[in-house]
Amino acid sequence: MTAPTFRTVSGDRRPLRVIVVGAGGMGRAWLSTVRSSPDVTLAGVVDLDPLVARAAAEAAGAPEIPTGTDLTALAAATDPDAVIDVTVPAAHLPVTLEALSLGLPVLGEKPVAETLPEALRLTAAAELSGRLFMVSQSRRYNRQLFRFKDQARRLGAPGILTTEFFLAPRFGGFRDAMDHPLLLDMAIHPFDTARFLLDAEPVSVYCQEYNPSWSWYRGDAATTAIFEMTGGTRYIYTGSWCSPGLETSWNGSWRLSGELGSACWNGDDPAVVEAPDAPPAGAPVPAPSAGGAGGGIAGALAEFVHALRTGTVPMGEVHENVMSLAMVAAAVQSASTDRRVVLDEVLDTARAEALAAADGEVRELIGSWSSVRDALTARAENPVGHG
Ligand SMILES: NC(=O)c1ccc[n+]([C@@H]2O[C@H](COP(=O)([O-])OP(=O)(O)OC[C@H]3O[C@@H](n4cnc5c(N)ncnc54)[C@H](O)[C@@H]3O)[C@@H](O)[C@H]2O)c1
Repeated sequence: MTAPTFRTVSGDRRPLRVIVVGAGGMGRAWLSTVRSSPDVTLAGVVDLDPLVARAAAEAAGAPEIPTGTDLTALAAATDPDAVIDVTVPAAHLPVTLEALSLGLPVLGEKPVAETLPEALRLTAAAELSGRLFMVSQSRRYNRQLFRFKDQARRLGAPGILTTEFFLAPRFGGFRDAMDHPLLLDMAIHPFDTARFLLDAEPVSVYCQEYNPSWSWYRGDAATTAIFEMTGGTRYIYTGSWCSPGLETSWNGSWRLSGELGSACWNGDDPAVVEAPDAPPAGAPVPAPSAGGAGGGIAGALAEFVHALRTGTVPMGEVHENVMSLAMVAAAVQSASTDRRVVLDEVLDTARAEALAAADGEVRELIGSWSSVRDALTARAENPVGHG
């Protein structure tokens, strides 16, 4: 089995020059993170709207930085080392393909793409380009999560993992009008965390979606999903985005029940463990990742740079990340059809759609995969810089 390989960036390019594409709400957060990182320097800002790009550069305290609407043109003018893609999900495919075709590695916001077939096309394109495509799954960069995972090893065989997520945010804007607001916009975070915690992949899911009578969302804002994971562990997610009172953290409230004991994590503080061999309270917290300093997107950025410097495969490398989006796609399909959905069937359908939409070498490579799961796990096997 081969771990992903990608071209590293030599040490004399220090700090790395990055172009940020997408200068909306999250783009501004990325610009601020880039500006405060010692590892990178801002080379340019791209947005479909030139005024948005310029205003974001100014708000980030970088009015002198070139901005524009065309990534290829700005890259030619600024000689960047990498692209950070913070566009809307529908633009993740074209922006990432454009960057890879320019020979530039990409750190992209979650989800990897708007749809699973698009994610498979990006996986193949990244492989063919020899450049790193990493998805920033920012909620993984959390010291308490790493501690929870560390403690989970003391529980023996994992049996049941649960997440409860109860919040009542009034966003306004696109989420209020989405078809599956909770599943599509938020649930990818805990689904990704469940894979990480269990070191397991989804096998099947049964999911129901519903909308409480008082919901201020057009689409279903509450959901319960039961996943069977490899090894037989069940992962159960119950969440609502219109649930005022006794709200959980944004990471949700977690419980892992294992053969020898249980651990609970409120998503913010250290996990509480009841097991024979639990570490004492106040034990050192494992670092988020080999290269990751800081949490959230700062951690993702640090790990991306570390990967480009050393060739270490990072968390969120595209092959490793795709199954988190597959969990969302399968849950949506189950909720829409009211039946248990097998992940391999969802992956096969996505592959057929990817083949129909792709051409050239990308199409050839996707066609050569013995199965999607094998293609993803074979390449994602080198595990990632948690340590
Ligand atoms: N990790 C997190 O916690 C978190 C939080 C919020 C958003 N996000 C993700 O960040 C991404 C952006 O979300 P947002 O809330 O900033 O959205 P937004 O709508 O506020 O901003 C997106 C920007 O991208 C620009 N854009 C769209 N297509 C483009 C293209 N082809 N080329 C250049 N620019 C383009 C738009 O003009 C807009 O300014 C999404 O993928 C979202 O899921 C992640």
